Amino acid sequence: MPTAIRAQCRAVGSCLPQQVLDNAMLERMVDTSDEWIRTRTGIRERRMVADGEYLSDLAVASCRQCLQRAGLEAEAVDGIIVATSTGDFSMPAVANVVQHRLAATRAWGYDLVNACNGFVSGIATASALIEAGRCQRILLVAGDVMTPYIDFQDRNTCILFGDGCGAVLLEAGPGDGPGVIDWLMGSDGAGADLLKIPCSGSAIRPSPAALDRGDHFLKQEGRQVYNYAIRHMTESCQQLLQRNGLGIGDVDLLIPHQANQRIMTNVAERLQSRPEQLVSNIDRYGNTTAGTIPLAMADALDDGRLVAGSRVLVTAFGAGFSWGSVYLTWGGSST
Ligand code: UT7
Repeated sequence: MPTAIRAQCRAVGSCLPQQVLDNAMLERMVDTSDEWIRTRTGIRERRMVADGEYLSDLAVASCRQCLQRAGLEAEAVDGIIVATSTGDFSMPAVANVVQHRLAATRAWGYDLVNACNGFVSGIATASALIEAGRCQRILLVAGDVMTPYIDFQDRNTCILFGDGCGAVLLEAGPGDGPGVIDWLMGSDGAGADLLKIPCSGSAIRPSPAALDRGDHFLKQEGRQVYNYAIRHMTESCQQLLQRNGLGIGDVDLLIPHQANQRIMTNVAERLQSRPEQLVSNIDRYGNTTAGTIPLAMADALDDGRLVAGSRVLVTAFGAGFSWGSVYLTWGGSST
């Protein structure tokens, strides 16, 4: 999309809890096996917050690393958007807590709730604010602390999710420079009941009966979600590439939401991408919901695959249903 100002991705930071939850530990909790989990999902281990460790802790650490890599003080930031479905509390928005702890004295903050599509939604929002000239620099934080919402007696879900967070600094740059070139998103609320945490909003009161039913735990119709995820991630990438006159060969890195290795591989094959284009770290972190894409970006940066000028195709799908894709060129330095 031609614009006078382009939102440049200058740096990424990340933070994961220290505590590791590996497949052998899950074998002791539910009727599963390391072999089943690895072959059906690609996951070997995931991270889990300790008691008293909150999303805000992961978010602040991600932001500090991101700012340090960008060579900026927190006062340089105009706004903080935290894409999460698992903030410390449903009120206040955790972005305000992050703003305070960073001493980002000039920044406003708010949360953006869109489950696994939170990072793509945040890119769409932050880049539009920057392109409109309303903001110079926005910290887009994306992450979730999923483990408190997981029923560790439900083998269908407890093997999938982990905790983690990332942050990307978006900054106004020249319209013909690197940055967020185009994005598209879609929604289909007909899928709302297929992936949800029933007792997590105003619909169901957290009564003893609700807790007894386990309504405070995440529920998923895995197979149906799996099929929709492949379809929508593939189609949104194809549409985005096509409307920008690009082929998959014009992309250096494909960074999908990390929900299941088989979903990622399937999408990559349907797009006819080369294996080396796909960025995957699901084996170590599982599905961190909004956190997966910035965490994958941080890993790609660390291993030298994401460098200044890299052409990146991002795609996500999650609860809602909600999905989207972004095409961007990386603007930051390589460290
Ligand atoms: O991030 C948001 C989007 N979320 C996703 O994209 C997740 C999408 N879904 C998935 O990743 C997969 O559907 C799962 C990993 C959740 C399940 O894999 P699947 O290949 O779709 O398995 P399935 O649900 O069709 O179940 C196959 C069998 C069943 O047994 P029966 O009925 O065939 O006897 C399950 O009970 O595997 C059984 N099963 C397990 N076995 C061992 C389900 N979970 C487990 C387990 N260990 N943890």
